[in-house]
Amino acid sequence: MTPTPRVPVTVCIHLEHVKTNFQQIRQFVSPSIQILPIIKADAYGHGAVPIAHTLAPLGVAGFGVASVREGILLREQKIHTPILIMGPLLEDHLNDVIHYGLTPVISHTAIIHQLLSQLPLNTQPFPIHLKIDTGLHRLGFDAQEALALLTTLSSSTSPITIQGLLTHFADADNPNPNLTNQQLQQFQACMKQVQEQGIHIPVYHMANSAGILFHPDSHLNMVRPGIMLYGYTPEEEHVPSPIQLQPVMEATTYIAHLRALKPGEIVGYNAVFRTKRLSQIAVLPVGYTHGFPRHLTGIGHVLIQGRPAPIIGKICMDMMMIDVTDIPDPKIGDDVVLLGKQGKKEITARDLAGWLKTIPYEILCGIGGKTDRTYIQPE
Ligand SMILES: Cc1ncc(COP(=O)(O)O)c(C=O)c1O
Repeated sequence: MTPTPRVPVTVCIHLEHVKTNFQQIRQFVSPSIQILPIIKADAYGHGAVPIAHTLAPLGVAGFGVASVREGILLREQKIHTPILIMGPLLEDHLNDVIHYGLTPVISHTAIIHQLLSQLPLNTQPFPIHLKIDTGLHRLGFDAQEALALLTTLSSSTSPITIQGLLTHFADADNPNPNLTNQQLQQFQACMKQVQEQGIHIPVYHMANSAGILFHPDSHLNMVRPGIMLYGYTPEEEHVPSPIQLQPVMEATTYIAHLRALKPGEIVGYNAVFRTKRLSQIAVLPVGYTHGFPRHLTGIGHVLIQGRPAPIIGKICMDMMMIDVTDIPDPKIGDDVVLLGKQGKKEITARDLAGWLKTIPYEILCGIGGKTDRTYIQPE
């Protein structure tokens, strides 16, 4: 049989690790608290459909996505749990929201009226969640406006039912908890006012991964983990994570070409690298089109034979150059790890994020979103 030709980058998604990361969160929060995994941006580059199929049987409250389009994709792939649309909605999204039974997170009054006018007569109670802005100033009602709306909705025979009240943290990964505490207090005050008015809302939620790990008061009765599911804590400099997580994504490539260069030769565009010794250079068939940004030039490394090999010269669109002078007998076709473990060494999305002065979220979305993924099924 002819072997399948190698692809430039292989992105492997270890579904077993998503499962164990979820189970770790399950054990960490109180058993009465529901979990709503956030799988927006194609599950942070890991593939929303396989991630949802892995997590749905483990007892999730539903899934959070950014857009109606992401919600429809899940419905078409037989995800029957509640699906919360966390991103902003326009009137022309509502037809699909209703048709696919998606749960909108509402942040302004006009969209409620538009929803009411589009809901069929005699419809079953249609669940929505209301978002309160407690400080991020991205989406969400002012608390008093939300309370007025809740009072109106609960005193009328509206087909809309308020299933949840939520807010989102701006700074929960900051070791300084001031802003987070302010948001928490503001949301708790709002919850109290709702309850004092005799309005029953089944679910209150605000905790992202940082809230889950570092602010237990924010767990309320549902939590919304994102980055933790994919194996990372939100912030490196915070207190050490109280739970063990395993990275889910790995990316590998191979040596595609080798060349020897004399001292003083330049490598790559704009001559930013010059050899200082007799050097051996490997060319990898991977570049910024695969989610390895150009800024990685000169600061990062890859793993070959379990050893770090520095990235040199500017990263090109679909190639990068590596100094393999210190690697014993490198050969064309040798495996190269871009993200993941090789021998005793590991490159994590946090390492790449550190080199690039960004966060693991952006690295995972960048690499996972650019390349076909291979799924390693749980045993
Ligand atoms: C509204 C909302 N909740 C929860 C999350 C999950 O956040 P994290 O990945 O930090 O856990 C996100 C992600 O940005 C979000 O937008």
